[in-house]
Amino acid sequence: MIVFGGSSSVGLAWDVSKDIGAQLGKNEVKRFPDGEIYVKINSEVKNQDCAVIQSVRSSDNLVELFLFLDALKDQGAREVAAVMPYMAYSRQDKVFTKGEALSAKTILKLVDELSSRVVTVNTHFMRGHGDGVYHKIRFRNLDAIPSLISYLKVRMSDPTVIAPDEGSLGMAKYAAELLGCDFDHIKKKRISGEEVRIETKSLNVRNKDVLILDDIISTGNTIAKVADFVGEWRPKTISVACIHALFTNGMDMFKGKIDRLIATNTVESSVSKVNVGPLIAKELREVLR
Ligand code: R5P
Repeated sequence: MIVFGGSSSVGLAWDVSKDIGAQLGKNEVKRFPDGEIYVKINSEVKNQDCAVIQSVRSSDNLVELFLFLDALKDQGAREVAAVMPYMAYSRQDKVFTKGEALSAKTILKLVDELSSRVVTVNTHFMRGHGDGVYHKIRFRNLDAIPSLISYLKVRMSDPTVIAPDEGSLGMAKYAAELLGCDFDHIKKKRISGEEVRIETKSLNVRNKDVLILDDIISTGNTIAKVADFVGEWRPKTISVACIHALFTNGMDMFKGKIDRLIATNTVESSVSKVNVGPLIAKELREVLR
């Protein structure tokens, strides 16, 4: 197998290729003066199984992934796996108002069309892991929650898990099972992409090590509001963990509100403490078998 790293996942692709003892693909990614993306494959891929690892944070990352996948097929690669550790557009996974484009389906469908296998990590539209089918599209969703929890387990003595909204309740329950502790959730009402409102309720977290767990931190407004609310119930510490850390408004908003902030490296940031490389390597090793 040859593992290629798109420009948003160069480090991760390097890790994965070393882990499975596969060749790291050679390629070039450039931009034309008008901003268009240029991709060139410099490795011989004919009759080889290939994987492209590319976290999709932006539309440009997506176009780059499309170009990689199609170029590999054009050059005679046998199987081409598309690995999207983070898949943007995944939060519009339902038609909430008639007429809306279902972006999660559209993106998944296009990537599936250009590849032999689609791999994601805790993607927003699948509240579970393993083999998934979403709008008849098959994909494989890897699970980084156990790795996040192993990192945290040794750092919290009396934990309890809080889901910031009802959508994250299943994940909180699962994390609580791994930690052997209780869990609860908060009710969040989203007013707009930037604004959320928290509904009050009583929380039993006094002197506990609270873990607020979400799949994605985007603007950070959900976590900032939830941390303020949890703080009123006098926990001992507040840790925040997520799979995909986008931090579109930076991390300063969490200062003084929480004791610990960690994420995986599906999106690289200064708080990427948990490496999803071994998970992806394990998956690709199975493809190789
Ligand atoms: C939403 O359903 C997700 O699970 C997260 O709660 C959401 O993406 C957080 O967004 P933000 O950081 O912008 O409040």
